[in-house]
Amino acid sequence: MTVYTILPLNYDCSCKIEQRNQQGCDSIESMGNTMTAATNLGGNFMLTDTSIGLNRMGYGAMQLAGPQVWGPPRDIDAAIAVLREAIDSGVNHIDTSDYYGPHVTNQIIKRALHPYPDDLVIVTKVGARRGEDASWIFARARQELIDAVHDNLRNLGLEALDIVNLRVGGMMDPSEESIAEPLTVLAELKHKGLIRHLGLSNVTPMQLAEGLTITDIVCIQNLYNLAHRNDDGFIDDLAAKGIAYVPFFPLGGFNPLQSSTLNEVAASLDATPMQVALAWLLRRSANILLIPGTSSLEHLRENLKAATVQITSPELAKLETIGG
Ligand SMILES: NC(=O)c1ccc[n+]([C@@H]2O[C@H](COP(=O)([O-])OP(=O)(O)OC[C@H]3O[C@@H](n4cnc5c(N)ncnc54)[C@H](OP(=O)(O)O)[C@@H]3O)[C@@H](O)[C@H]2O)c1
Repeated sequence: MTVYTILPLNYDCSCKIEQRNQQGCDSIESMGNTMTAATNLGGNFMLTDTSIGLNRMGYGAMQLAGPQVWGPPRDIDAAIAVLREAIDSGVNHIDTSDYYGPHVTNQIIKRALHPYPDDLVIVTKVGARRGEDASWIFARARQELIDAVHDNLRNLGLEALDIVNLRVGGMMDPSEESIAEPLTVLAELKHKGLIRHLGLSNVTPMQLAEGLTITDIVCIQNLYNLAHRNDDGFIDDLAAKGIAYVPFFPLGGFNPLQSSTLNEVAASLDATPMQVALAWLLRRSANILLIPGTSSLEHLRENLKAATVQITSPELAKLETIGG
């Protein structure tokens, strides 16, 4: 039976994952914790049928590459500082891909954080590659997927990848194609021990159903935010199944959300619009895990504080109008 645990929104979980699984989260002192006592990252979510507990506020690393997610960043030291501060602040979930850069983002993660903290979970994705003109090209053939997994292992400096998402569909929205062939390849790599857990990205409920006949799926990563709510029903179904939902573009992506309603609500809560957008997602469903992307320390700090923003019912009603 699928069991999942959702701790309250403001649960301060500062212990190591392995210790938490054995003992529950007792006092911080008794845990030899690696995080600060002030950690409050939106509570913690246990991935279904795993021993992985993720703080609900994570970090998306795509913005660490150069412009258009291509080449190195202008300031590599700043990129390293962002990653290190995220971890020092209690983030234990980083989303990446070897096609960011390509290779660059994973190499920066390795340079900044390797050897990795025990409780850090690095989630990557495969299913695309980059053309020499920085274009995004599907790469879902058997050998392309195998190569992508090995590229991720090498550039991250890992012997096994914690979670790999199979990225399908178009640039933004999913399409109803069979995912059996590529997912079977990844399931084989999981069987060989190169991948611990699998997820899907940019998929429909039908594709998830097909995927579950092939292997366990621990997370879905689709486009969703305050203004883009196609997945409302899907999120509720996933919550019932205990599967994590990880919205990409939680702040609106390359063009962050702009809404006068969002600005008004943020002002009334003494928060920033981006903090409210993230706090709304945390409140929307307990299986939502956040991976906001930023290349800026200032924005990272702002985003992490969103875990403490409380949205009142009247403000929630206003925010609900943004997605139509
Ligand atoms: N599965 C997929 O197909 C897919 C697709 C896209 C992304 N992703 C994943 O999802 C993660 C998040 O997506 P994303 O980074 O594209 O979009 P996002 O998190 O919605 O927004 C990132 C953008 O918002 C800006 N930003 C961040 N914090 C801000 C703040 N507090 N105030 C103002 N602007 C702020 C960033 O610029 P600054 O750098 O200047 O802060 C950047 O331009 C990515 O890192 C990646 O890991 C997955």
